[in-house]
Amino acid sequence: MIDIEKIQKSVGIIGESEPIRDMLLLIGQVADTDISVLIDGPSGAGKEMVAKAIHKNSRRKFEPMITVNCGAIPAGIIESELFGHKRGSFTGAHEERKGYFEAADKGTIFLDEIGETPLETQAKLLRVIEQGEFMRVGDTKTRKVDVRIVAATNRDLADDVVKGHFRKDLYFRLKTVTVRVPPLKDHVSDIHLYVERFGLMFCAKNDIPFKGFSAEALRVLRSHHWPGNIRELKNMVESLIVMHRGERIDEEMVLKALGRTEEQLNTNLPVLIGDDTDKIERELILKQLLFLRQDVNEIKQLLFSGGRPGGHPVQPANPALYLPPPGGQRVPSSAAEAPPSAVEDGKLYAVEDFAVGEVTMKELEHEMIERTLEKFNQNRRKTARALDISERTLYRKITEYGISKK
Ligand SMILES: Nc1ncnc2c1ncn2[C@@H]1O[C@H](COP(=O)(O)OP(=O)(O)OP(=O)(O)O)[C@@H](O)[C@H]1O
Ligand SMILES: [Mg+2]
Repeated sequence: MIDIEKIQKSVGIIGESEPIRDMLLLIGQVADTDISVLIDGPSGAGKEMVAKAIHKNSRRKFEPMITVNCGAIPAGIIESELFGHKRGSFTGAHEERKGYFEAADKGTIFLDEIGETPLETQAKLLRVIEQGEFMRVGDTKTRKVDVRIVAATNRDLADDVVKGHFRKDLYFRLKTVTVRVPPLKDHVSDIHLYVERFGLMFCAKNDIPFKGFSAEALRVLRSHHWPGNIRELKNMVESLIVMHRGERIDEEMVLKALGRTEEQLNTNLPVLIGDDTDKIERELILKQLLFLRQDVNEIKQLLFSGGRPGGHPVQPANPALYLPPPGGQRVPSSAAEAPPSAVEDGKLYAVEDFAVGEVTMKELEHEMIERTLEKFNQNRRKTARALDISERTLYRKITEYGISKK
């Protein structure tokens, strides 16, 4: 039995759609063998994640996985990088040096962008794949390694073979087991999962409240063709959150970010994949409720703790927060002048009797924030501390209530 969930968790692969499940199933079937695997898929679709999943679910998981970006190494030094070199084998080779294959011994080597490897090097790769043998550059001694090969490409290797850019024998050796990573446009029903994960991760890292994406916003995201695949989606989610800090992302914001109009959305686009929109919407509402509960708790704390972190309901720390008495002036802001009636039987009464039933939580909160900011000369850190809320929450509420400096 292949445990798809375990594979997903091992490296954080997200997705419930059929193409992703098929891909995970194949990973599960081949991971614990030593067979070479070719990972094929467009840029940003998750090839590197798949390579890691193969390694992490193999018997070699406690050994290293060495990643080599074959496209990024100049042709002149790629062999010495891969196989090492003997001292003095070329100008600059002052020391004997091990290559990536030796470093990966007992583990896995991930040859990314294998289609970019020069033809001469491809012959040597075939040898090491078939016989586990290679020679360091400038050396005559054959060495052995026990390395599992995982390669990836976003090129059409079959076409490269026809054009003479890629060795046929190496291609056939590698393609026996090919894991195809689907482009995002083929599994748009997973988009809400990516949005949620990337959104939550980004917000947690940057201390921004995550208010989610509306069902309509998700609908627009699902209708895009995503040439840059999951990487592009991740960047889009992060930039939307930065541009609309602390806000719920709606359809209009997404359309603008994609440079599209509602009309284009309705006319040019393919039919959306049937997805449980209700379920997504329910989850989003649930999250909104959680945020709301957090806010209410903060207000309660603010009202009953006397404005101090962990404060007891005894002395009002900041009498300036009191509402004005009937027909009277605002209460003086020095603690010494606090009205004695504010504390009765050890209980704090932050609101005068006349105001009870007349003032909403929002009005109260708005006023308290505004006046505390005034008291502390708009210093947000001090204000947040006095109100016993985080600076992040304060920032959000200032925007929400449109409070501006006086
Ligand atoms: N199924 C997935 N679940 C969660 N995150 C994913 C998934 N697929 C890709 N990602 C994320 O998308 C980004 C791109 O993934 P990755 O680097 O694996 O793509 P790639 O196919 O190797 O791209 P390239 O061809 O450009 O090298 C990474 O940040 C990765 O974490
Ligand atoms: Mg990659």
